[in-house]
Amino acid sequence: MDKKILIAYYSLEGNTRRTAKAIQNITGGDIFEIELEKPYGMASAFTLGVVHSRRGNGPPLKKRAENLDDYDTVFVGGPVWAYTLTSPIVSFFKAHDLSNKTVIPFCTHDGAAGKYFEKVVENCPNADLSKSREFFKVKLKNDDELTQEVNDWISAVL
Ligand SMILES: Cc1cc2nc3c(=O)[nH]c(=O)nc-3n(C[C@H](O)[C@H](O)[C@H](O)COP(=O)(O)O)c2cc1C
Repeated sequence: MDKKILIAYYSLEGNTRRTAKAIQNITGGDIFEIELEKPYGMASAFTLGVVHSRRGNGPPLKKRAENLDDYDTVFVGGPVWAYTLTSPIVSFFKAHDLSNKTVIPFCTHDGAAGKYFEKVVENCPNADLSKSREFFKVKLKNDDELTQEVNDWISAVL
């Protein structure tokens, strides 16, 4: 794999972080944590976070990913909130030009991804949904199970 890979993720409870780190271990890519200037906590995720996500808002990021020119493949992942795309992922798409890259979206959820990927494409029209992947109930999986699942997916898409 000689392409340079970036794995950008947002995670509140750690499931998407574990998944992103498994992708990093397998691909050797660089990792970027998407963080908001005003981060959500567990309580505000269910109020502000859900409202922002349903409205398709992208609140300001704490920082942008640097040297995007170095990468030709960008994995972008987050949790599903309220059956849709999480607002920090909207923020990431708004703040970065990914138009000349292979964008591979993924998400983690507990049963219902809803409109997550439909909204990914609205925000990032060249996201490759044929390569996308949803990870279900990551918190119930041990590291070996998660690594195996990520590995099967990566070998099919890269
Ligand atoms: C505010 C909020 C809303 C959520 N909404 C959904 C949902 O609509 N569908 C679903 O399957 N899981 C939902 N979940 C569960 C998360 O998507 C799931 O646990 C995910 O793996 C969390 O990722 P994280 O640990 O990276 O934050 C929600 C969790 C939170 C905190």
